[in-house]
Amino acid sequence: MVLLEVSNLKTYFYTLRGIVKAVDGVSLTLDRGQTLGIVGESGCGKSTLAWSIMGLVPPPGRIAGGSIKIDGDDITKMREGDVRSKIRWKKVSMIFQGAMNALNPVYKVADQIAEPLLYSGAPRDEAYARVAELLEMVGLDPKIGERYPHELSGGQKQRVVIAMALIMEPDLVIADEPTTALDVVVQAQILNLMKELQRKKRRSIIIISHDLGVVSELAEKIAVMYAGKIVEYGTAEQIFNNPMHPYTQALIRAIPRLTGPVTKLEYIPGSPPDLRSPPPGCRFAPRCSKVMDICRSEEPVLEELEKDHFVACWLYRR
Ligand SMILES: Nc1ncnc2c1ncn2[C@@H]1O[C@H](COP(=O)(O)OP(=O)(O)O)[C@@H](O)[C@H]1O
Ligand code: SF4
Ligand SMILES: [Mg+2]
Repeated sequence: MVLLEVSNLKTYFYTLRGIVKAVDGVSLTLDRGQTLGIVGESGCGKSTLAWSIMGLVPPPGRIAGGSIKIDGDDITKMREGDVRSKIRWKKVSMIFQGAMNALNPVYKVADQIAEPLLYSGAPRDEAYARVAELLEMVGLDPKIGERYPHELSGGQKQRVVIAMALIMEPDLVIADEPTTALDVVVQAQILNLMKELQRKKRRSIIIISHDLGVVSELAEKIAVMYAGKIVEYGTAEQIFNNPMHPYTQALIRAIPRLTGPVTKLEYIPGSPPDLRSPPPGCRFAPRCSKVMDICRSEEPVLEELEKDHFVACWLYRR
């Protein structure tokens, strides 16, 4: 059953120095219980896409087109008050990029996790019992609720942030770079925790990372984003065993290997374009080793090249 349906979404930032087209015509669907990974280098619009689904695009950004349906309701057409009372945190919640470093230093952990429940009118003892349960679920001693954020390690703080995202029992949890600031060992622990949540609770998850290795640990489906657009979309197996877009192929070569012989990491030369004036045609053309003439003038569209496997690249058009 479809939980989330994003159609031709455009989210732009109207800055004094031009319009940043951070998300520029993205479509995707997510079923209940499914896990979608979104991967791409920094600056490709991943966080902006996530903020859009939460109905929390920061100014000067706004949704310029398209729709975002959650359980059939288009949140881009809803009033803010209705999104707040019916959707945000209750149906869709988010682990914000860097949130573990933005916990409020003056409140105890349990108070921060309990806040939305108390706000929605739950009795105090019930709310705090639920917090203790959640802390246990994310692998923390419930006593940690009595501490302040600065008394916790990075990994503990990230577990607290995950508990915060789960307190209202949302159907969909968006995790934006949930392991990025952590060391390798703690990264693996957090990913294991997310796998457990996925297995036990059958929640829908969107996991966002610049690292295809992280995304592949969890995701059944993967969307590769480049310069505000999805350039390849398929099952995790298709993306790994048969990557077709040159950008996806380059991302795979850039995954650091934790095991096996240390091979040279291949970096992708250049960087993603300025989204105020992306190159015409294929946005990856200036960095693509397989670029052809047509790539620089005409934009390739996403096409289904095998079942459920979509690619936007002129190499496969004939
Ligand atoms: N508040 C903002 N004002 C203006 N531009 C922004 C703002 N937030 C993000 N952007 C721009 O939107 C583009 C996409 O950013 P972002 O969604 O954060 O990408 P990612 O999460 O993939 O790193 C970037 O060019 C970034 O500079
Ligand atoms: S469309 Fe052309 S430039 Fe773009 S990825 Fe394909 S081959 Fe490279
Ligand atoms: Mg981001």
